Amino acid sequence: MAIVGVIGGTGVYDPAWLSNLQEVEVATPYGRVVALQGELSGQTGRVYFLNRHGAGHALPPHRVNYRGNIWALHALGVKRIIATAAVGSLNTAMPPGSMVLVDQFLDFTKSRPATFFDGGDEGVRHTDMTDPYCDASRARLLAVAHELGLPVVMGGVYVATEGPRFESAQEIRAYRILGGDVVGMTGVPEVVLARELGLCYISLALVTNFAAGLSPHPLTHEEVLEVMAEHGQRVKALLQAGLSRLGESYSCACQP
Ligand code: HPA
Repeated sequence: MAIVGVIGGTGVYDPAWLSNLQEVEVATPYGRVVALQGELSGQTGRVYFLNRHGAGHALPPHRVNYRGNIWALHALGVKRIIATAAVGSLNTAMPPGSMVLVDQFLDFTKSRPATFFDGGDEGVRHTDMTDPYCDASRARLLAVAHELGLPVVMGGVYVATEGPRFESAQEIRAYRILGGDVVGMTGVPEVVLARELGLCYISLALVTNFAAGLSPHPLTHEEVLEVMAEHGQRVKALLQAGLSRLGESYSCACQP
């Protein structure tokens, strides 16, 4: 059995599907991180939940404590992470409401600490990032989605932008030429840091809007929240059912 951690993004703040919830506090080299420990009904073993943006969605994407969050989950014994993400779509085959299990990223972030290996005591390490998202775990979550009758797009290129502003129409045109399918502000460096510590990481993205220039109207965070609320039940249903499947023992290329 592997301990699974969930990182809840925009609109996924409350792990109502877990029981016996209790707060655990982890002191990390990057500050104190508070996670929720709980159990899945009918299952033994613990699961952890972390709210990416902190209590009350207080942290914008460029100020999220990515290193602290991943360090804390690792310190708690988590081996596999499912993260959720609200994203804009660059691809007409992935309209709002689509769930996407992304398989690659393009990184356009600018100002975030993006490694645990910063020289000095930590040393220098260059981590392989050929396949950032765990294929075996994605396949398992896809199988669960099929069982639940939930459509999921298997694979997609996640474009990570710095935010907190939305993109210009020309940026989106450029990202499309580069092969981007969806765009969000938090997926990197989260996945990178997880891979640096040898954790399996998958991202379940929910498309909340067509991206700038493709959307018929200007983008707002309220629209993202509304669409997330409208479709969030499916994300949560898949998380709940998928958690126990990701806790089973199976091998994958992520862990040394
Ligand atoms: N751009 C960046 N991040 C997002 C978007 C978007 O259009 N929608 C939801 N998160």
